[in-house]
Amino acid sequence: MATFTLPKNSKISAKGRDHTAPGATRVKKFRIYRWDPESGQNPRYDTFEIDLDECGPMVLDALIKIKNEIDPTLTFRRSCREGICGSCSMNMEGSNGLACTTAIEDLKGGTIKITPLPHMEVIKDLVPDFTHFYAQYASIRPWLQTVTTTPSGKERLQSPEQREKLDGLYECILCACCSTACPSYWWNSDKFLGPAILLQAYRWLADSRDEMTGERLDNLEDPFRLYRCHTIMNCANVCPKGLSPAKAIAEIKKMQVERHI
Ligand code: SF4
Ligand code: SF4
Ligand code: FES
Repeated sequence: MATFTLPKNSKISAKGRDHTAPGATRVKKFRIYRWDPESGQNPRYDTFEIDLDECGPMVLDALIKIKNEIDPTLTFRRSCREGICGSCSMNMEGSNGLACTTAIEDLKGGTIKITPLPHMEVIKDLVPDFTHFYAQYASIRPWLQTVTTTPSGKERLQSPEQREKLDGLYECILCACCSTACPSYWWNSDKFLGPAILLQAYRWLADSRDEMTGERLDNLEDPFRLYRCHTIMNCANVCPKGLSPAKAIAEIKKMQVERHI
């Protein structure tokens, strides 16, 4: 098995590893949460100095540089590097966001603290376990459901106005920044679906082609699944795509009321 040797300008202290960047003129420090559950050791923070003149502008550029040049064991998710896949969601300086669209210079302070998304189980370092989140997503049946047969040889059409109702919903990349910033989700994620999944639920309720509106609303009519949202609005404040899950949740609640009138 290959062994990993720290570069010469890195040292291991009681609190974690420290890597310096001697000779650099524009230095930024990154304090990064590290934990490997299989190691049997407690979590720690490692500090890496990066020369910003030798690094791309985004937080993900710094993480990739650290992994490529300093510590290949640093573990995080990423794929598209342009805010489309939702993989690189994490907490940076206390706010959830996408590492690939968060500019290093927009994070104030001498040291940037990076941790996994809050209140999620950690698989390793900055990688949270999305198993429960995806199971909740599956529970809202996130696909078009119909009872009528599709007109032969035709698509199910929408008017421009019907299609417009999906704006602000279809753009969600399921990064979970919103759900993991929601206090109600922190404490009740076993039962409350949380803002991301509820926004997705509304995406199908708002789709003129879907024919399972009643069943979808029945599935959500529950004191916990939907009604744990207390309109705290953290979700809308952190969404990297500028969406408002809180608004989608309010629309679902409105639909629930209207169908009982
Ligand atoms: S508005 Fe609702 S879903 Fe959004 S953060 Fe607040 S409680 Fe959570
Ligand atoms: S609503 Fe925004 S923050 Fe929430 S999962 Fe979708 S893209 Fe991410
Ligand atoms: S790497 Fe895809 S959203 Fe950041």
